[in-house]
Amino acid sequence: KEISIIGVPMDLGQTRRGVDMGPSAIRYARLSERLEKLGYTVYDEGDIRVGLRERATADTETNLKNLSAVAEGNDKLSQKINEITSLGRFPLVLGGDHSIAIGTLAGVAKRSENLGVIWYDAHGDLNTAETSPSGNIHGMPLAVSLGMGHPVLTNIGGYTPKIKPENIVIIGARSLDEGERELIKEKGIKVYTMHEIDRMGMTAVMEETITYLKERTDGVHLSLDLDGLDPEDAPGVGTPVVGGISYRESHLAMEMLSEANIVTSAEFVEINPILDEHNKTARVAVALISSLLGDTLL
Ligand code: ARG
Ligand code: MN
Ligand code: MN
Ligand code: MN
Repeated sequence: KEISIIGVPMDLGQTRRGVDMGPSAIRYARLSERLEKLGYTVYDEGDIRVGLRERATADTETNLKNLSAVAEGNDKLSQKINEITSLGRFPLVLGGDHSIAIGTLAGVAKRSENLGVIWYDAHGDLNTAETSPSGNIHGMPLAVSLGMGHPVLTNIGGYTPKIKPENIVIIGARSLDEGERELIKEKGIKVYTMHEIDRMGMTAVMEETITYLKERTDGVHLSLDLDGLDPEDAPGVGTPVVGGISYRESHLAMEMLSEANIVTSAEFVEINPILDEHNKTARVAVALISSLLGDTLL
């Protein structure tokens, strides 16, 4: 089995500095070694080149920050993903802020009629320029992949939409903007908020998620934003929200996905080592990636 690691040092989808160092932080936490020990052949493809922060704070017509540089980086990423999937390798993308999901999904969805998406996140990332409170593109990638938002973003990869609303499962949500709630209702997107995780337990949440996606999709992309976890366990993120998923629950979720063998690509995003304590969040990411890819205690 072959895995390609792609770093995306993208920090232009939000305003805090340091999330561009996420890929280095994860490599420093010995990702490749862990995966090789699991028996994988690992190709580290290096980093996608990301442009510079734009001097004007936002696109004057749309309020989107760093629009062209974010689009350019995502376009390169989608091309790289195409190369990797055509070789039959598993793409593992390291962020960078969550705007990079636009490029990852543009790449992986090309080969899939019915791609499933697990959006593991405190946020919905379902904003458009009209609903965004911030103008930060990292709050928009799921909407963009559904075909909603600025055409420069939705047309990355040369086609739109990338995914269907009924193929998405959001897990861990606890900070949704008004426009995002409306979109979730309008499109009928499946969401397990922290309330359902508390109430049902992670085991039942994952059992339902796996059954749901197995029935209707031909592959599943896991987009894991480290801020889905509780800031106690993953402090190195730019937009922490209290009351999140624990490390143990996340670990269990990854093991259940591994057992179900449904995940065909993954990305781990929003790791900011500057805001972290002793690279804890990158180390958590590496542990979760290993579990997702088959690490067990015995
Ligand atoms: N909903 C907020 C916004 O649109 C926060 C988004 C945070 N997204 C993330 N990928 N961390 O600005
Ligand atoms: Mn988030
Ligand atoms: Mn996110
Ligand atoms: Mn374990």
